[in-house]
Amino acid sequence: MKITLSVIKADLGSIAGHHMPHPDQLAAVTKMLAEAKQKGLIVDFYVTHVGDDIQLIMTHTKGPDHPDIHGLAWDAFKAATKVARELKLYAAGQDLLSEAFSGNVKGLGPGVAELEMEEREAEPVITFHADKTEPGAFNLPLFRVFADPFNTAGLVIDPKMHDGFVFEVYDVFEGRSVLLKSPEEMYDILALIGTPGRYIVRRVYRKSDNLLAAVVSVERLNLIAGRYVGKDDPVAIVRTQHGLPAVGEVLEAFSFPHLVAGWMRGSHHGPLMPVPMRYARVTRFDGPPRVIALGWNISNGKLIGPADLFDDVAFDETRRLAQFITEYMRRHGPFMPHRLGPEEMEYTTLPLVLEKLKDRFVKSEEAKIVKKHSDMLSGS
Ligand code: 13P
Ligand code: 13P
Ligand code: MG
Ligand code: MG
Ligand code: MG
Repeated sequence: MKITLSVIKADLGSIAGHHMPHPDQLAAVTKMLAEAKQKGLIVDFYVTHVGDDIQLIMTHTKGPDHPDIHGLAWDAFKAATKVARELKLYAAGQDLLSEAFSGNVKGLGPGVAELEMEEREAEPVITFHADKTEPGAFNLPLFRVFADPFNTAGLVIDPKMHDGFVFEVYDVFEGRSVLLKSPEEMYDILALIGTPGRYIVRRVYRKSDNLLAAVVSVERLNLIAGRYVGKDDPVAIVRTQHGLPAVGEVLEAFSFPHLVAGWMRGSHHGPLMPVPMRYARVTRFDGPPRVIALGWNISNGKLIGPADLFDDVAFDETRRLAQFITEYMRRHGPFMPHRLGPEEMEYTTLPLVLEKLKDRFVKSEEAKIVKKHSDMLSGS
């Protein structure tokens, strides 16, 4: 029996800004999923949040992109939005960009990662859930997990992984994907995924048998909506152990709090801080961006867990470094590279400022500029 793990998430509104959902929203969502479980539509589920994004973690036998599962997620998100409206939460229904659900939530705002699997004798899986950042935030850690032997010992010493992995890299601007092999095409992979706002690691396969090992949500909200609607706040699923990277190898890749795009108004670089679930709330400058890791064993579709994997003192130094970086980056205020470049900023006053100043720009030799400016300053 094939089991599909579906992680579908959306921001439906938050208490006080973009910080965290209200417990009544989580309760409304939980009720709908519990009913679906009772009816047999899903095998099991878990509801949580990271920052202001509600996370539905569901198992079922219907395969990816199934209209009943996506419909359930859509209805659950509608229910959370209704609560948000009743409570007048901030940005109620933020990520539901369309009223017209027609069988799939992709392209409508929610983020989706789904992985269909034939359960192994033991099926340890990690789900990652991030807030205040974009899908490309997973590029660096996933590269390290599946392609960097200095991160993942198994690439060298486990015969089942020694051939390497195949990366599907998705170009969000063109809506097209390319498969690239590691280690052979490692430099090509890096040439693309080093631009995480455009090229996103969407899937990773084990080369020896094409087993699907990892999936990332790749939706980019602003490309869907054509305007600023918050950051995408991505999710990822990674299968582990027994011929795949060990849980500790997967988590090791998050021990470096690399800079990602997102944070305040979706327009700043900041460190991706791995945190336990109790710290999955974003306050400082609406951040810094953070990620939780939930460990599961899937047993006949049942979700055994979660283990709150970043709830470990071994990640304290990572968090401390992230705090230093937070301090350092914040001191740049409105300057790049803390603030994103104009092409990546989610919203900007630059066109308005340029329009307002258009008659005051002086294009000429320097002497004329000095003359004109001195005339302007003296009021003539
Ligand atoms: P165990 O011997 O504890 O199973 O460890 C194996 C392993 O995968 C460690 O990363
Ligand atoms: P979210 O995408 O998490 O809602 O973030 C929006 C924002 O503007 C944070 O400052
Ligand atoms: Mg929000
Ligand atoms: Mg969010
Ligand atoms: Mg968002």
